Amino acid sequence: MNALSNTFDVAIIGGGVIGLGVARALAQRGVRDVLIVERSSLGAEASSAAAGMLAPQAEADTADDFFQLCCQSRDLYPAFAQSLYAETGIDIELETSGTLYLAFTEEDERELVKRYEWQTRAGLEVEQLSASTAKLLEPCISERVCAGLRFPLDTQVENRRLISALATANEALGVNVLTGVSVDSLNIKRNRVTGIETSRGFVACEKVVIAGGAWTSQVINEALPNPRIEPVRGQMVSFEATPQITRHVIYSPRGYVVPRRDGRLLAGSTTEHAGFDKRVTAAGVQSIVTSALEISASIARLPLTSTWAGLRPRAADGLPVLGPCAEIAGVFYATGHYRNGILLTPITAELLVRAIVDEEVSPPLQIFLPDRFQLVTVS
Ligand code: GLY
Repeated sequence: MNALSNTFDVAIIGGGVIGLGVARALAQRGVRDVLIVERSSLGAEASSAAAGMLAPQAEADTADDFFQLCCQSRDLYPAFAQSLYAETGIDIELETSGTLYLAFTEEDERELVKRYEWQTRAGLEVEQLSASTAKLLEPCISERVCAGLRFPLDTQVENRRLISALATANEALGVNVLTGVSVDSLNIKRNRVTGIETSRGFVACEKVVIAGGAWTSQVINEALPNPRIEPVRGQMVSFEATPQITRHVIYSPRGYVVPRRDGRLLAGSTTEHAGFDKRVTAAGVQSIVTSALEISASIARLPLTSTWAGLRPRAADGLPVLGPCAEIAGVFYATGHYRNGILLTPITAELLVRAIVDEEVSPPLQIFLPDRFQLVTVS
């Protein structure tokens, strides 16, 4: 714990993919003393619970600023994966076979037509599939499919390998890491952060990045804008599929399945407000399995090998919270990524480094600044 007697250039609260991504990018830009403080172990929460889809086109309803941010980040992934591999030898299994979105009812079909129309108008890559073409692409798809879309640029990564790769890269870059240490508050003097109070004592630092995911609210005090991050539970189910039954990630409006190289087929998910309760429920598993079987009846014969749940960090307006805090010098936010933490890791790291090192609040960041939220009111 000698590390704690240092003054750090930047302390990052949270060792999920966002905190790890920002730490790596800072160290690569030459910031020397970077510290990650993680309450549990690296990537233990939403980062490892996620399914790793990089699928903005499959998930969006409009081409708004958030969608543009998601697409920008998705498009950074090939270079991001390549550089992580060069630094660590860890392949994050970026799959480029594309994503399918299937309709099983007339209402689903109307939804698909709308999505196809706005995306083609916006000049995005999307292909319309008849039921028979969809089944030709992926014979496992249910006979009840009516139509589909294929998003060739929407992909996926193995998020648990991403955590390992980022952790290894940070180790090689000399980033300091404290795990099993919680942060209670930020120490602020004359409108400037001077350090963090942790369960292991005070740590002095010049700058702080709040990347606490669902636990962000625990470090926000009355001097700071409060995005009111709440945990939104997502349950997951994993089947054993050797040989794998699909090459594509496949969505329906009610769920998704994600094939992994190691023979797992992941299926998700639920969207529940259950506080910090990460337990899996019978109703959760039932709804995920029902949606998965609607996509492919072949799943019925697969052994169900694992279930888990994660807590998505959702800000009050559902959008990420990124960049410097205007009220307190030295405080930066990188949180509230909700359903898109894995997807938004590369762009978050890039934008935060520009804000921290170059003091540049670039246009994409301006929309997601923490100051769109009020300060905490003390009653
Ligand atoms: N991004 C998928 C999910 O949150 O379930």
